Amino acid sequence: MSEIAIHAQKLSKSYNGAVYALHDLSLEIPSGAVFGFLGPNGAGKTTAVKLLTGLLKPTDGSCAIFGISPVKKPCEVHRLCGAVTETARMYGRLTGMQNLIFFGQVIGLTKRECRQRAETLLKSFDLWDVRDKCLSSYSTGMAQCLSMARAMIARPRLLLLDEPVSGLDVESALRVNTMMTNLAAQEGVTVFLCTHQLQYAQNFCNSYGIVSKGKMLACGDLESLSREVGIPLRARFRLREGQTPKHMECLNDGWWGSDLSEEEDMPDLLQNLVSSGFDVFEAQLVHPSLEDIYFKLIEWKGEET
Ligand SMILES: Nc1ncnc2c1ncn2[C@@H]1O[C@H](COP(=O)(O)OP(=O)(O)OP(=O)(O)O)[C@@H](O)[C@H]1O
Ligand SMILES: [Mg+2]
Repeated sequence: MSEIAIHAQKLSKSYNGAVYALHDLSLEIPSGAVFGFLGPNGAGKTTAVKLLTGLLKPTDGSCAIFGISPVKKPCEVHRLCGAVTETARMYGRLTGMQNLIFFGQVIGLTKRECRQRAETLLKSFDLWDVRDKCLSSYSTGMAQCLSMARAMIARPRLLLLDEPVSGLDVESALRVNTMMTNLAAQEGVTVFLCTHQLQYAQNFCNSYGIVSKGKMLACGDLESLSREVGIPLRARFRLREGQTPKHMECLNDGWWGSDLSEEEDMPDLLQNLVSSGFDVFEAQLVHPSLEDIYFKLIEWKGEET
């Protein structure tokens, strides 16, 4: 059984004592997962990150990072996780290199370790040429990349990323995404990624939690979420013009569609078409997208919350 990186038990936060920004969040994220935490503006994503990193104390419930409570042992938790949040500011008057060395030392690395690690990270984020320039002269994207480098300085076992590519150009976003995927795949780093960009999440994550108005609506991988929401797999076929199979829905441009209960039904369906004399030019298995699932869930459950 793999180790649990993030455990939350009915984790709740109310800023004003009246309304919950996050309510009863229960989660278990295994080590090595790339988890997408998705929800509209104000859903409670940043609040969750702040609770998990000990920046906020829960109103109710509890959480643990690799078994350690961020409330009781914040320093130990900070050593295990790197976070990129909108509030994780660095020092404008220090250079990129100085910032990384400073934050590395705060976490307990020696100056020498910090310098070595900073050199690798500044190069991977294409910031090497501006390493001796003050952060205040960096563009938004450059500062965001430095923030990622800061989060990775102590080789964290968990990365908490709050909209890590917002404000980045395509090239920098690609750099951040490649780093993130490599860290997860090669070094087993667990990633907790908050975003409202669904296609982005689908490209990088292997499990998801969908929140709205402080409540978790559903949690799981794409397959289990599709099942829960009831969006079926679909088969699509492009047949010779004029051919009309029974029990299939006519789509456009010669395409016909049918719902499947499982992937295993696809070969039989294709074989039946061919043996009944249909000319099949193209066949596709269409999985519901995260976007299909998300909007159905928000429509269903989001209104109830
Ligand atoms: N410091 C604060 N004081 C009072 N209310 C807050 C504070 N921070 C957040 N909130 C409220 O808590 C709720 C959740 O906010 P949060 O920032 O966690 O959402 P989010 O999912 O990160 O949204 P976004 O996608 O816009 O970043 C919102 O209603 C917000 O107004
Ligand atoms: Mg947020």
